[in-house]
Amino acid sequence: MDFETLVNERYTVRGYSEEKVAKTDILKIIEAGRRAPSAKNNQPLKIYACVSDGSLKKIDEVSPCRYGAPLAFIICASKDKAWSKEGYSSYETDASICTTYMMLETANLGLGSVWVGMFDTDKTKEVFNIPEEFTPISMLMVGHKKEGTKPLPTHNQRKIMTELVEFL
Ligand SMILES: Cc1cc2nc3c(=O)[nH]c(=O)nc-3n(C[C@H](O)[C@H](O)[C@H](O)COP(=O)(O)O)c2cc1C
Repeated sequence: MDFETLVNERYTVRGYSEEKVAKTDILKIIEAGRRAPSAKNNQPLKIYACVSDGSLKKIDEVSPCRYGAPLAFIICASKDKAWSKEGYSSYETDASICTTYMMLETANLGLGSVWVGMFDTDKTKEVFNIPEEFTPISMLMVGHKKEGTKPLPTHNQRKIMTELVEFL
């Protein structure tokens, strides 16, 4: 898919079929995250790929937003390992870029995904035994779209150009 088509066609999917995501596709999605840039190339990231029934059940314990997806990623970042300046750490930014790359690759593969911020951070750390230094920043639920899935009406409600941008 060319980039403009990809950007225009992607939308948040909140309904999935039971079909598993092929291992080759899972690896391509992770590879896209691995290729994502990070500040100073520090790569302060750790990705958990939940594919087993047990780990997906754990996702349901910490988030109401799996929507039946058979694959869930938890993208974590370390504040200490990330580039920082004057009290600012790029860890959330780095994790978000990684999540974005992964989300776009799912669309490129014809799969659906939803970026999820609605999860219990502390419980996620506990349930998945995530090392202290890493903070779960985002989740990405992935799967084959359920038949009839379409974007919400709000999907196309974007700020108009003149409101968004100021040419200087
Ligand atoms: C940082 C972030 C957090 C989000 N968290 C959730 C979430 O917890 N649950 C959910 O259903 N969608 C979540 N979304 C999806 C957004 O609601 C969705 O991207 C937005 O409504 C625009 O729709 P579109 O992706 O179809 O263009 C999140 C998206 C982003 C970027």
